[in-house]
Amino acid sequence: MKVEALTPVIGATVYGIQLADVVHDETLFQTIHELWMQYLVLFFRDQVLSPEQHLAVGERFGRLHIHPAAPYVEGNPALMKIHADRHSVRNNGDVWHSDVSADEEPPMASILRLHTVPRQGGDTLWANMYAVYDSFSPTMQQHLSGLHALHHMSYEGFYGTHDPQRQTPQAVHPVVRTHPVTERQALFVNYGFTRQIVGMTPSESRALLSVLFEQVKKPEFQCRFKWQQDSIALWDNRCTQHHALWDYFPETRSGIRVTVQGDRPFFRSM
Ligand code: SIN
Repeated sequence: MKVEALTPVIGATVYGIQLADVVHDETLFQTIHELWMQYLVLFFRDQVLSPEQHLAVGERFGRLHIHPAAPYVEGNPALMKIHADRHSVRNNGDVWHSDVSADEEPPMASILRLHTVPRQGGDTLWANMYAVYDSFSPTMQQHLSGLHALHHMSYEGFYGTHDPQRQTPQAVHPVVRTHPVTERQALFVNYGFTRQIVGMTPSESRALLSVLFEQVKKPEFQCRFKWQQDSIALWDNRCTQHHALWDYFPETRSGIRVTVQGDRPFFRSM
């Protein structure tokens, strides 16, 4: 196995293994888990992975999460389709976000494999939310640590056809969350889902959220992954955000995401 960091702050490509093997190989699973905690998002090239294996890899990390509204492979809602082509009016995830943070227990992990990629473009960017939190002054960190924010999404009409159940998830989460494994503090508000800081006026909330959202956009906290056919990305939604670029219209980009349920976010003072 060879591990190559993409940037000093986030992301690494792991060569020489098939991710499917974590299902039966405990040592490999532990190694990948440690690398994942270290790099926050891991990339794998040339991955052979059937839908059943993909689900089994997800289950190795935890209980599977079902998206409130996104299309899925017929017969299995845990196999979420990520797809855009010349008929699309949007792609998935083209703003900075952490997956379905409007759920009471948002996903901890997402495992995306693309089987069709455009000739150019369609990269995904990830940002390290520990580093974003660490970049604020101690005064700002202290202020943020006492705050909560409302996350909400209306998926009505978002995906065309969808299951009307769970269409509008909503939850209040701490603005800074303590990662349950690393116990590090990470900023946990995102442009895609966070609507309002609890207890502030709308204009105060807008002003503060805009400072926080701008910080996530800084390239020094990010990595950018260039997909190939059969690449996999495994990311930690508890301490990263991502942004999937839609710069390849009218070409097709397509794959399957398996998402793993997380715990209710909490803040523990250090
Ligand atoms: C997403 O899961 O938000 C989309 C990621 C991607 O398509 O790269």
